[in-house]
Amino acid sequence: MENFGDIRISRRDLFIVGAASATAVALPAGQSAAADVDAAAGGAPLRPPVAVAVSLLVNGTQWTGEVDTRTTLLDLLREHLHLTGTKKGCDHGQCGACTVLVNGRRINSCMTLAVMQHGATVTTIEGLGTPEKPHPMQAAFVRHDGYQCGYCTPGQICSAVAVLQEIDANVPSHVSPSLTARARLTVDEIRERMSGNLCRCGAYSNIVEAIAEVAGGQP
Ligand code: FES
Ligand code: FES
Repeated sequence: MENFGDIRISRRDLFIVGAASATAVALPAGQSAAADVDAAAGGAPLRPPVAVAVSLLVNGTQWTGEVDTRTTLLDLLREHLHLTGTKKGCDHGQCGACTVLVNGRRINSCMTLAVMQHGATVTTIEGLGTPEKPHPMQAAFVRHDGYQCGYCTPGQICSAVAVLQEIDANVPSHVSPSLTARARLTVDEIRERMSGNLCRCGAYSNIVEAIAEVAGGQP
């Protein structure tokens, strides 16, 4: 008989506990997790994934299909429509690599479910321009070397297009002088509005120059 302070346990008890732990470790993870969920649901059978019909206008083309309700807009674009220009960076709304335009406004497509955008108009980097006929913002990024590895670039360009529309519409930002004053194109203004788009290569100054050129002014 072992004696650990107040705990008294026989060698036989110790052997039984050890054997039980080894069995638990040997169980496949999925089986154990499923058993837990099953138990939590009071023994009810697990529900299969639910698919619903979603319809979107993507880059001018109507798309309709059945989508698992857990599918993000980002995964719909990349995995179902094969529009892989939109990038998955963090998948947590932190980096902006997945930025697209939905009904004219920029959003992180990893942070919205495809079913939530049913009926929306979506523009991705592929819809802005083509290599033969690039959007002015795409051309400016090339001219100013607004990228290095290019992974963040589709999101940066979609965001930049929306930024100029926001300044045009006088949408205030955190560095705007006041809520009523006209939004102006300054370095601070561009940097603040683009702060949700991270670039691990640090191409920030060239990105600001590209955006300023398209806006037609020196910030
Ligand atoms: Fe969507 Fe990073 S992948 S914000
Ligand atoms: Fe490489 Fe931005 S160009 S992360």
